[in-house]
Amino acid sequence: MNTTKHSPGFSTLLVHAGEAPDEATGAIAPVLVRSKTFAQATFGVEATYQYSRGKHPTRDKLEEKLAILEGGGKAVLFGSGLAAETAFLLTLSPGDHVLCCEEVYGGTFRLLDGLLHRFGITASYANFSSEAGIRESILTNTKWLWVETPTNPSLHVIDLALVAKVSRETAIPFVVDGTFAPPCTTRPFEYGVHTVIHSLSKYIAGHNDILGGAVVTKDASLYERLVFMLKTMGAVLSPDECYRVLQGVKTLQIRWNQVSESAMRVAKFLSESHTVKRVLYPGLPSHPGHMVAKRQMRHGYGGVLSFELTETRLEKLKTFVDFARKEGPIVYAESLASPETILAYPPLMSHKSLPSDVRRSLGIGDSFFRLSLGFEDVSDIIAGLSRGLAAI
Ligand SMILES: Cc1ncc(COP(=O)(O)O)c(C=O)c1O
Repeated sequence: MNTTKHSPGFSTLLVHAGEAPDEATGAIAPVLVRSKTFAQATFGVEATYQYSRGKHPTRDKLEEKLAILEGGGKAVLFGSGLAAETAFLLTLSPGDHVLCCEEVYGGTFRLLDGLLHRFGITASYANFSSEAGIRESILTNTKWLWVETPTNPSLHVIDLALVAKVSRETAIPFVVDGTFAPPCTTRPFEYGVHTVIHSLSKYIAGHNDILGGAVVTKDASLYERLVFMLKTMGAVLSPDECYRVLQGVKTLQIRWNQVSESAMRVAKFLSESHTVKRVLYPGLPSHPGHMVAKRQMRHGYGGVLSFELTETRLEKLKTFVDFARKEGPIVYAESLASPETILAYPPLMSHKSLPSDVRRSLGIGDSFFRLSLGFEDVSDIIAGLSRGLAAI
């Protein structure tokens, strides 16, 4: 008889981790506690739950689940991905520096350059595709290496093993914004990452109905500072949102598999169109990060791809969007990782806060679109895109 303890697979963890039927009622769906404050049984003795800004039972459940899914550490939840980033960065002090990979989400850039800079926390951006590129940009006051992978919106894939080597040798910890590669495909802790940040608003919740953020860390003292930040800044995730994430995340693997398959088909379709200048999708063998993605993203490359049209005239871009919207199940909107397929235009949306010369130098040109595949039939999405492209 084999007596070795069997470890549950990731899909089992998605459904069961951190959850058990409610002891009082047997309820299987997570118990949603809405209470803001909690009765304290005895005078002078601290109760586990007191006031929900500090600690809350439904939030605790989700924190436990997310840490298990990441494969360790402890999670702290915030009211949005950006609130999570803000709390994390505010654990730094004036005079500290963060070295980021060249392209980051526009909101991260705005937070660093538009806000934290004024408080003496500075950031610079470097090419993270080689050890030398990272090393030569490290300053004496660099406190964190900040990695986003794949990046928003160009889908650069950063080699976590390579950054881990530099991090080890320089003793500068590194943090990963894993929003575009949730733990069903990449678990950054396996590469020696110290801290992982997620916008829960995307794949993890997955249903286009909540904003949320998480920091998961293996650093006990950072964890304590984050708990302090949560209580002090107050950007908490509400119990209802926690409940939605607890339920939504259960289907993460199934959703990821489907959108990865659809994105691959759409990427191939777009690559064959003469009105498309280039397609960026880590699953395409032509993508510069394909080999790293193949190693690092274990279950597909996700539902987001970007592409540039050969046309740059605004009226033609508008025609493309109007036809794609009318002829296919495609919504023109901000954000990604929803049941609905979303077509976005980063120059006026997610990366609007970048100065246009910086944006263009990153390759996010004036005809650059991002597409996030939903759960619709892929043939319908291709039909919409095809009509949009034909119209220009
Ligand atoms: C990579 C990445 N990180 C962080 C965020 C911020 O998350 P939120 O919208 O939940 O504040 C986003 C939002 O699009 C993102 O794409």
